[in-house]
Amino acid sequence: MYAKEFQDSIKAVEAAREANIAYEPARMTAKEKEELLAAYHPDYKKSEFSELKFGPNKGESVPKELCEMLEAHSRIKADDVDLTAPKYDVDILIIGGGGAGCAAAIEANEAGANVMVVTKLRMGDANTMMAEGGIQAADKPNDSPAIHYIDAFGGGHFAAKPELLSKLVCDAPEAIKWLNDLGVEFDKAPDGTMITTHGGGTSRKRMHAAKDYSGAEIMRTLRDEVLNRGINVVDFTSAIELILDENGNAAGAVLLNMETKELMVARAKTVIIATGGAGRMHYQGFPTSNHYGATADGLVLGYRVGAKLLYADTLQYHPTGAAFPQQIFGALVTEKVRSLGAKLVNRDGKVFMHPLETRDVAAASIIRECSDRGEGVDTGEGMAVWLDTPMIEKIGGEGTIEKRIPAMLRMFASYGIDIRKEPILVYPTLHYQNGGLDINADCMTTNIRNLFVAGEAVGGIHGRNRLMGNSLLDIIVFGRSAGMNAASAAAKTSLGKLTLDHIAKFDAERKAAGVITDKVSPKLLPNYTTRKSEL
Ligand code: FUM
Repeated sequence: MYAKEFQDSIKAVEAAREANIAYEPARMTAKEKEELLAAYHPDYKKSEFSELKFGPNKGESVPKELCEMLEAHSRIKADDVDLTAPKYDVDILIIGGGGAGCAAAIEANEAGANVMVVTKLRMGDANTMMAEGGIQAADKPNDSPAIHYIDAFGGGHFAAKPELLSKLVCDAPEAIKWLNDLGVEFDKAPDGTMITTHGGGTSRKRMHAAKDYSGAEIMRTLRDEVLNRGINVVDFTSAIELILDENGNAAGAVLLNMETKELMVARAKTVIIATGGAGRMHYQGFPTSNHYGATADGLVLGYRVGAKLLYADTLQYHPTGAAFPQQIFGALVTEKVRSLGAKLVNRDGKVFMHPLETRDVAAASIIRECSDRGEGVDTGEGMAVWLDTPMIEKIGGEGTIEKRIPAMLRMFASYGIDIRKEPILVYPTLHYQNGGLDINADCMTTNIRNLFVAGEAVGGIHGRNRLMGNSLLDIIVFGRSAGMNAASAAAKTSLGKLTLDHIAKFDAERKAAGVITDKVSPKLLPNYTTRKSEL
């Protein structure tokens, strides 16, 4: 139930509802989209970016908070650890216990490798767990990987690395089968076929889901499989520095016990970075849909040993973060809400965009409505627009919300809002890191041997914007592939002497570039004890 100050606007939304359901808003032209993005999308706000002064991406622009971390000091000095006495000695060290890390661990274990997963929180404390709407795969008769490719390539502004996107879409049907066989409870029709829906920018219904907690269901299944296989998982322990061998190949990591602060060495023939995203960097002061540990650690670890980044200047702001009430500010309101028919409307109840434009366009459109156009709703904490959820029941029939998006129903019900009867207030929230470490199709970084990457820490799979459901897909496709390829690389590798010489080299480069900083990285966890502007 909303307070009095929202009631006039809600009445306008209700009055327009029937007409809005029937109304099919036009899609924007390419030119309109370009102009909209340039004027309103946060990626285009030049003052929020800094140029990297040294390192493999010297001269490129990245969000200023990320630049600070990429150029920061190591948390350790090379002398702090004894590289000759590793606590762990494995074939494959996987950094990150989310969906990509677990998928990699399962396949590497299947290939017979000795695998260890290290995770700074608990296994499954990851963006995978928070994913709601679903996972794309072209496995219906009216669809094909080629059509999936075209949708995703266009949605990503034609910037995806073709070999990575091609792998994503071609391996997608097999990824769904793999998950289904492992026990993921996908939504199915009575005859057993998968129920699929549209997402923004998709020309076919190819979104497979487990209601609106698809990521939690996938994570539950992967975690069970990792545990059932007896794979070694070391939790509450973060990787704070990669180790190379004397030949410059990845050879392990320095680990930090998050509770005791003990430093440990893990020696490994291959390393997989699966550290996930960066929402908790709160770029440009945005709230986030991401889990507590999403602080771009993998990008920092990789950059310091010389691995290249790709598209680190582009982030995804999910158009529909919860904007009210304050307790759930920034939490994800799944795109599936719009797939099921809810439209975005302004304070006067007017539909101002097609509900399934790609995310960057939808986010920019909401920001425009709330800024220059002055058509947003004042929540007391900021501006927002309505997402008219009662439309879903009118279109799909009574009970649709409870059946298809029960987590949304429950989240808002906790605050007295019945989304079957009342619209909800939304505003963009920092959701996804489009850029990351540059890899080849075998998941190895383009310039550091035996350093593999999977999941959100990869750059270039989606280009400069990602379509809904292609992230749960990429953690499976690239996670599995990284696990298999790392296992086969480990079988052919004998390690040279371990070194941390790259730390001194990086320090020297910083000095030569004239960069003075007292920051250390990776960040590991956000600091909510400081002011918003300092997060
Ligand atoms: O809207 C969503 O459910 C998010 C999905 C995704 O980021 O892929």
